Amino acid sequence: MSVLRGKNILLGITAGIAAYKTASLVRLFVKAGAEVKVIMTPAAKEFITPLTLSTLSKNPVYSSFIDEDDENAMWNNHVELGLWADLMVIAPATANTLSKMAQGNSDNLLVATYLSAKCPVYFAPAMDLDMYKHPSTKESFDKLREYGNIMIPAEHGELASGLIGEGRMAEPEGIVSFIENKIIEGQPLYDKTVLITAGPTYEAIDPVRFIGNHSSGKMGFAVAKAAIDLGATVLMVCGPTHESYQHDLLKMIAVTSAEDMYNAVHEHYGSVDIAIMAAAVSDFRPKQVAQNKIKKSDTALTLELEPTKDILESCGRLKKDQILVGFALETDNAIENAIQKLKKKNLDLIVLNSLQDEGAGFGTDTNKITLIDKDENISAMPLKSKLEVGTDIMNEILKHCDV
Ligand code: CTP
Repeated sequence: MSVLRGKNILLGITAGIAAYKTASLVRLFVKAGAEVKVIMTPAAKEFITPLTLSTLSKNPVYSSFIDEDDENAMWNNHVELGLWADLMVIAPATANTLSKMAQGNSDNLLVATYLSAKCPVYFAPAMDLDMYKHPSTKESFDKLREYGNIMIPAEHGELASGLIGEGRMAEPEGIVSFIENKIIEGQPLYDKTVLITAGPTYEAIDPVRFIGNHSSGKMGFAVAKAAIDLGATVLMVCGPTHESYQHDLLKMIAVTSAEDMYNAVHEHYGSVDIAIMAAAVSDFRPKQVAQNKIKKSDTALTLELEPTKDILESCGRLKKDQILVGFALETDNAIENAIQKLKKKNLDLIVLNSLQDEGAGFGTDTNKITLIDKDENISAMPLKSKLEVGTDIMNEILKHCDV
């Protein structure tokens, strides 16, 4: 999943031959989960049709302040478009448009929108090599960067003129990953590693049977997504689950039993910045695992169980600079029990789930939590989607912990 998911992207296209590549660029943004609106300079329509771009973006394409072909035309509001955008990308950006942007010369909708935009603005220059090197172009680049815009440098290669040099617009894939990396680098957990346990554990009775629980792993995955949105690299140690999630910043380590989870966690715990234990780890396991399937019989079967290792508690004991977060699932005296767990396991934060609350607990897409930090500050949250709860947990970690 890309950090561009859910973002509103305004793509400004100017009149350069590289405009033909913007069909792929729109497609890649949409594939990444972004909402895309396109503004073209009038001359850019000579290079790629608005129909192609509106079809790919599933939105109207804007190119003038009013649409002259439509007698009921409305004013295309550059201020509204500018405010709608989470980021604006001008690609290809010609020398002419860059100079207008640098001078604040808003004689077309694209530049007027750029001047109204409050979001980060990226520009991907595309022009012939001598234009690219010209001092006036360099001056535009410098001025635009000084204003806080982000340049996606042109590449070296064969140009439309047949000459070879610097000036080719970066390839659409390169533009997308450049923007994704910039967004991630600007996030508060960039360069941090978060270890998350999730899902149930299965404790073998014999080769076919196990002791398990109803945990779906959804809460752990929601926390992982929220951590990734904040730029973190996530190591997820996950028991058997139907949930799945793929992201460049996510490494999945699949385990089965509490012992496997314990070993996987301790392989990495020493080198992580934050550890969040959302797994529903079995507290007991059969003392003996039968080598062969236990046969049916008329007499009662007694299984002797032994405690598993408490992974969270062991992390609390070994804690150095890590921020350690645990969950507590309680049915009665919830707050007191959760505070006891927080202290006993040496945690920085505990997330209390109460099975008593409707819509909270195993298998649902919602949860109702109370957050308690090590100073015993208590914040009770309303019922929310697990994704929102994941974000609340990560925001609380950011607020309370000095990372
Ligand atoms: N936990 C763990 N290893 C275990 C048991 C629990 O890491 N063997 C972690 C869970 O992931 C959770 C926290 O400990 O973050 C609390 O789990 P919970 O089941 O609420 O509490 P327990 O400590 O198991 O105590 P009890 O079941 O008696 O309430």
